[in-house]
Amino acid sequence: MTKIAAASANAPRQRRSRADTTQPVNAPAVSGPAVNSQVRAQLAPQAQVANDPAPRPEGALRFLSEAQPATPCLVVDLGVVARKYAELQAALPRAEIFYAVKANPAPEILGRLAAAGSSFDTASAGEIRAVFASGARPERVSFGNTIKKPADIAWAYGEGVRLFAFDAIEELRKIAAHAPGAEVYCRILVEAEGALWPLNRKFGCVPDMAVELLTEAQALGLKPAGVSFHVGSQQQDPTQWNRAIAAAGSVFRRCADAGVRLSMIDLGGGFPADYAAGIAGIGAYGAAIAAAMNAQFGDAWPRLIIEPGRYMVADAGIIEAEVLLVSRKSAGDDRRWVYLDIGRFGGLAETEGEAIRYRVEALGTVAKATGPVILAGPTCDSADILYDKADYRLPLDLKAGDRVRLYSTGAYTTTYSAVNFNGFDPLRAYFV
Ligand SMILES: Cc1ncc(COP(=O)(O)O)c(C=O)c1O
Repeated sequence: MTKIAAASANAPRQRRSRADTTQPVNAPAVSGPAVNSQVRAQLAPQAQVANDPAPRPEGALRFLSEAQPATPCLVVDLGVVARKYAELQAALPRAEIFYAVKANPAPEILGRLAAAGSSFDTASAGEIRAVFASGARPERVSFGNTIKKPADIAWAYGEGVRLFAFDAIEELRKIAAHAPGAEVYCRILVEAEGALWPLNRKFGCVPDMAVELLTEAQALGLKPAGVSFHVGSQQQDPTQWNRAIAAAGSVFRRCADAGVRLSMIDLGGGFPADYAAGIAGIGAYGAAIAAAMNAQFGDAWPRLIIEPGRYMVADAGIIEAEVLLVSRKSAGDDRRWVYLDIGRFGGLAETEGEAIRYRVEALGTVAKATGPVILAGPTCDSADILYDKADYRLPLDLKAGDRVRLYSTGAYTTTYSAVNFNGFDPLRAYFV
């Protein structure tokens, strides 16, 4: 059996027999509420191909069938993480990878990426500590949250971190006061059309303000490094970087006119996981970004940073869960309710608005025929419904005690898992 590391040292194991038969993977359409019509038109024909094969992290699958761990649990295949890192590097060879720690901060993942040469985008002092513990030096850390406590800025600076994000004058003054002489970059507001998990409204300022703030940064004794943006998470349209890079180019030129020489663009995250068919390969993202950079900067590209989170870890993870109850609300109800031992509060928070639609596979059932279901979690909270509007179908003989797998769940799951809500433990994780 593959050597494993369990996040919880005392994680109990349950042995149970089950048939090897698996049902086809439920692959709902990729289009979510935030997908614009252009992207939908491009992607829908492929996205609706039924039962598209899920990405198969072989090490994680082997562990699940051999160890049969207690559910719910996440198994992350570190080999897939390493492969994703290499594929992203090949697709964007001129970019430095700063892994967005928030996607999954497990020491096993940070250690693997640090050894591969990754740098790290961090959101808090806690994430910076986790990155240091993985062996990475402060030069490889960016404090990328635009909302920071002065004490955390001072602590990070004292530890040697020299790269800080901001999007407002108050934040800039905090950095000037507590991280004198540091490099700073300004996050700009960009569109997030085509993203299933948009991140645009809360962060960033308009390019006009960015020019003013970067000029002010220089006056405050800081080093104005450049511009960042995020085109939205699970961005399905590689051309969405075009406009954002053009906006960054315009900030570069206007700052130069004001005597401020910028040297860096941070393209953010947004690179997609393989939740459903129809997503372009990472090579298409690399090509679209390179074309946009050439259009703005010709041969003289500035330093380029990317902050992938979801892309790096989502497809490496599989959650295995147990069916607790299959019921109908009335005898004639044509949809069954399927309650799992994991829900919104157990790590599947990104099912909010049914935005992220994981592939779900039932194990051990024999029926070939499937029927429509509403999938829900185990807590006594009526918000704990995973999929109602999305057309999920599961085998007609599915029953309490059967197990299901949710694929591509390595990102934004363990860290969203509530601590003891309704008395349930946080999501247990294994790394193989
Ligand atoms: C500043 C920043 N960078 C990178 C990321 C990672 O984004 P993604 O998971 O889409 O790659 C996020 C996600 O919230 C973010 O806030």
